Amino acid sequence: MTQSRDKGAYPQAGKRRMIAPQPVTMVCNDGALERELLAQMGPDTVFMMGDNPALPRMPERPTLLDFFHLRFGAITVNHLLQSAKLALDAGHNETIVMACLLHDISNGALIRTDHGYWSAQLVRPYVSEEVAWAVEKHQALRFLPDESVGYGYPEAYVKYFGEDYVPPPHIQREMHEARKHRWYMTCRILTLNDVYSFQEGVTIDPELFTDIIGRNFKQPVEGLGFDGSPSAHMWRTMIWPDNFL
Ligand SMILES: [Fe+2]
Ligand SMILES: [Fe+2]
Repeated sequence: MTQSRDKGAYPQAGKRRMIAPQPVTMVCNDGALERELLAQMGPDTVFMMGDNPALPRMPERPTLLDFFHLRFGAITVNHLLQSAKLALDAGHNETIVMACLLHDISNGALIRTDHGYWSAQLVRPYVSEEVAWAVEKHQALRFLPDESVGYGYPEAYVKYFGEDYVPPPHIQREMHEARKHRWYMTCRILTLNDVYSFQEGVTIDPELFTDIIGRNFKQPVEGLGFDGSPSAHMWRTMIWPDNFL
């Protein structure tokens, strides 16, 4: 008998389903919360596995835009769409538009820390090497001014991190290596379109990018999360972010 994900989606019907916080949000905790949850387990109380009814249901074969619509937070969605639209309106090529559309994707529903690297890892199996490279390196290049193209140190970073903040050595190394790379300008243009101003009431329809995504993002027929790619598990984590294991 074939069991579709549909059938597997509610294996815990009728039970109370506990959600344990992700370890990365409670590093070095004393174990008290986990012990409390473990103590509540019983015939009618289990840990969450599968669809959380509190979240929008994802389709069986999710596409990139399904994640934009059903998983990513509003601020990240607006920011990615705004960056990509700026690049599109400025007449930049589709490599740059795609890099803008994806550059902070891990902030949408996965993780913020080291977001350039996580974002690149998520999309690398599906985009050109150049797009993945630009997504990864933008994290470091955002800190490196280049007055020759009118890019100064971001005012937003002064507010976020304080005026005395200096990026750590590994990020400085990355930014200077990226500066010499043959794809430097791709990433530099990404950073120029990576703005943090949001106009109230202005929304951009993600469907605007459907054709560009179709030409530049190899959507797996099995759906993101189910194609066995090196990042499939990361997409599944966003589909089922509350799974205990
Ligand atoms: Fe970023
Ligand atoms: Fe950004």
